[in-house]
Amino acid sequence: MVVLKAALLLIVPAVLSVLAYQYHLKAEQEPQDWKVTANRIRLSDGRHIAYEIVGSKESSNPIFWFHGLASSRYEASAPRLDVLNDLDAHTIGIDRPAVGQSDPHAGRSFQSFAADVAQVADKLGIKTFFVVGVSGGGPYALATAYYLPDRVRGVLLISPASDYNLLTPQQQEEWNHFHAATWLSKAVRAAVRFAPWTLKGLARVSETRIGGRALYNSVLKGLVSALRDSRAEVDKRCIASMKAEGVIPTGAPPPASDCAQEGKIPNALANVDRKCLAAERPEHVTQTIPESQRQKTAAVLFQDVALFHTPWAFNVSEIRPEIRRATHIWQGTGDKQCPVVGAEALASAVEGSQLYIEKDGGHFAYFGCSEANRRKALSNLIKSGRSI
Ligand SMILES: *[C@@H]1O[C@H](CO)[C@@H](O)[C@H](O)[C@H]1NC(C)=O
Repeated sequence: MVVLKAALLLIVPAVLSVLAYQYHLKAEQEPQDWKVTANRIRLSDGRHIAYEIVGSKESSNPIFWFHGLASSRYEASAPRLDVLNDLDAHTIGIDRPAVGQSDPHAGRSFQSFAADVAQVADKLGIKTFFVVGVSGGGPYALATAYYLPDRVRGVLLISPASDYNLLTPQQQEEWNHFHAATWLSKAVRAAVRFAPWTLKGLARVSETRIGGRALYNSVLKGLVSALRDSRAEVDKRCIASMKAEGVIPTGAPPPASDCAQEGKIPNALANVDRKCLAAERPEHVTQTIPESQRQKTAAVLFQDVALFHTPWAFNVSEIRPEIRRATHIWQGTGDKQCPVVGAEALASAVEGSQLYIEKDGGHFAYFGCSEANRRKALSNLIKSGRSI
């Protein structure tokens, strides 16, 4: 069964990518069918990047916030306004291309992303800044530090996606064990090993209008609706009791359920994360995740998978030393999305960085639902930052 699925995963994208190249199906050529409501910046090539500022624009510590997979610029509110104000900081959340209200960018790379960030910073009048990367945003924070050495003052990674190629053989074993649960990750590993071009091929397909929509309908929608469905199903039984306990603010839309024991999202979020989202960050489920799907394309998912799962195009060990010493990596041991070994490998590769491991800390909860951690993480970042 696994072999069949893996074979499908190799053959289907191969055929589709040939078609995509053949017909030059580019998402950019299509008229958009959604309305712009966000602040956007027009880049020199005509694309737009959507952004969201949280805190005072006049603060002395601007922080670019790079969201995770299936997330969007709204994630920049995670530190909370009072913490930002106390630290004289503000966040600028930006949608990656094809996410939320940023235009798609076929063939994008870590380097092109960093170049986008530089242009956005220029337009906002920001000379130097901090970068934060959460989960799938982590590699982009490091890439920005690598490609913009004169502008980045410090880096904070929260439960970051990591580069498999940085792992020691023993760490790779742990990583494989961690991800063994899903056939999809097995297939991705098989593809990386035996036919890495399939990942690029899939990314190319996802960049097309038709391919992006088809993959969205078949893969991404399923992932996102797993969150939503489980909510609907579990909500019936749980919402009343959660309301009674004051977990859901009255009148607010129902958040992801914390009835984790119901097992409606196998291998998805840790209990501590469900609780966190339900109790303190319902907007992550009601606003941040849905916004990431606005363009109904799987482009970002497949572009990210291709960029993350092949050796990264830049060497994290060669990030400017002053920035490496101002790099902080936070990871919980209860995280069900990103394994601890990934954070550990990044910490050893980024010489001089600080690694903070919290026992049983979740993927979101570690930072997002602990005010003490939020304050500590951001004030450590700002304190250690280079003042340029
Ligand atoms: C990355 O840079 C370090 C330090 O310069 C070097 O030792 C290492 O071999 C490089 N890794 C790759 C894959 O080039």
